[in-house]
Amino acid sequence: MDKMWSGRFSKTASSLLDEFNASIMFDRRLYQEDIEGSIAHATMLQKQNILTAEELDSIIKGLKQIQQEIESGEFEWKISDEDLHMGIEKRLTALIGDAGKKLHTARSRNDQVAVDFRRWTLKKNLSIVEAIKKLMSEILVVAEQHTETLIPGMTHLQHAQPINFAFHLSAYLAMFKRDIERFESSYERNNISPLGCAALAGTPHNVDREMTAELLGFGSVSTNCLDTVSDRDFALEILFNISTMMMHISRLSEELVMWSSYEFGFVELSDEYSTGSSIMPQKKNPDVPELLRGKTGRVYGSLMGLLTVMKALPLAYNKDTQEDKEGVFDAVDTAEISLEILKEAIKTMTVKAHNMEKACAIGHLSATDLADYLVEKCAIPFREAHFITGRAVAKGEELGVDLSKIEFKYLKEIDERIDEDVMEYLALRHSMNARTSQGGTATVRTKEQLNYFREFIAKTNPELLV
Ligand code: ARG
Repeated sequence: MDKMWSGRFSKTASSLLDEFNASIMFDRRLYQEDIEGSIAHATMLQKQNILTAEELDSIIKGLKQIQQEIESGEFEWKISDEDLHMGIEKRLTALIGDAGKKLHTARSRNDQVAVDFRRWTLKKNLSIVEAIKKLMSEILVVAEQHTETLIPGMTHLQHAQPINFAFHLSAYLAMFKRDIERFESSYERNNISPLGCAALAGTPHNVDREMTAELLGFGSVSTNCLDTVSDRDFALEILFNISTMMMHISRLSEELVMWSSYEFGFVELSDEYSTGSSIMPQKKNPDVPELLRGKTGRVYGSLMGLLTVMKALPLAYNKDTQEDKEGVFDAVDTAEISLEILKEAIKTMTVKAHNMEKACAIGHLSATDLADYLVEKCAIPFREAHFITGRAVAKGEELGVDLSKIEFKYLKEIDERIDEDVMEYLALRHSMNARTSQGGTATVRTKEQLNYFREFIAKTNPELLV
């Protein structure tokens, strides 16, 4: 009968129940938030004359000792203590006696776990933002060297129009910036203190919720206790934010896998971030981007898992909610290592600009430019221009030459309104640089975009920029 809640029971809990019911083996990750939460709560109780100064003093000393025991590995985490909250409180009482038993006045594990897990998650929203900025800085370094490097821009994975490689990378910078905004807005929205909600209905004790919120760095106090103790939106949001970010990482990874194949040959990943085959001695495999793609699936699973846990819970706290933590811990760990390793893989890869440019010479990438030429210079309606260009493409196919290299006489045969200056328009670099509309690929426009992302990082983290 060693349970804190054993008063109304006459039989001891089975060890099978202990094993099934416990969260201590994973929620111990929240020890720092739990101890800080308890210190804030006790400090408030003392100010409200619910604890004496001596009691507060011994509670703080005890909790600090426990923190030190945990950090040195001496602390004994026991399944029979069920969760970290009870594990720590039990140790506190063993250390300081009766004062330890008063700590839980005006508090429940329901608001306690809501405080701990929410604060842990809030911090992670911010540290992930930092890590995304580091990745973006590395992408910027590569992009800034390739604002003139031609690469086939694709739709349907088919050659479409020539773009430059920096413009392609800049698309990912745009995605990662949106990710940052999502993590930051989740932080703002969820930075609300649950402490003082107690089990579900609040407490008759004269607590000062504003005070504990401030001590714990929360921006405000929650409005409705019934909602607060069972609200896990903050956990769902970080899972969604990580899922979306991993989706972006996975798209880039997919491109890295393709680009590092012989068929593309656009990049070579460094040996440090490639692996070999146990049977085929010649192989160099892109395991890093492949795993990033694969881990994305696992993160989505955690998001779906928690949405499903939450979907039919009656108010307020239900033990189902204990299933909220492992998926979030796993997703956060995955996000952190994924951002770090993708950054390193990008930093150390070799860009094979020559192959990118060579690939642009196949697939009549400047066909749209011929149509645009016919519209602009010959006043031909676009639909007709599209048809004439199709004829020119067919001619190129017949001759086995790309439209950018076709002899002028063949174009003249197709439509005599075409003049020799058309050849300039069909040149691939001209095609890329012609797309000067806002947000377009022209080198001048690409440089504007890179500056925009550079300034975005510089605003908060100039030290990340070289
Ligand atoms: N370990 C529990 C969890 O993670 C803490 C809250 C338990 N509350 C309760 N009423 N049993 O959800």
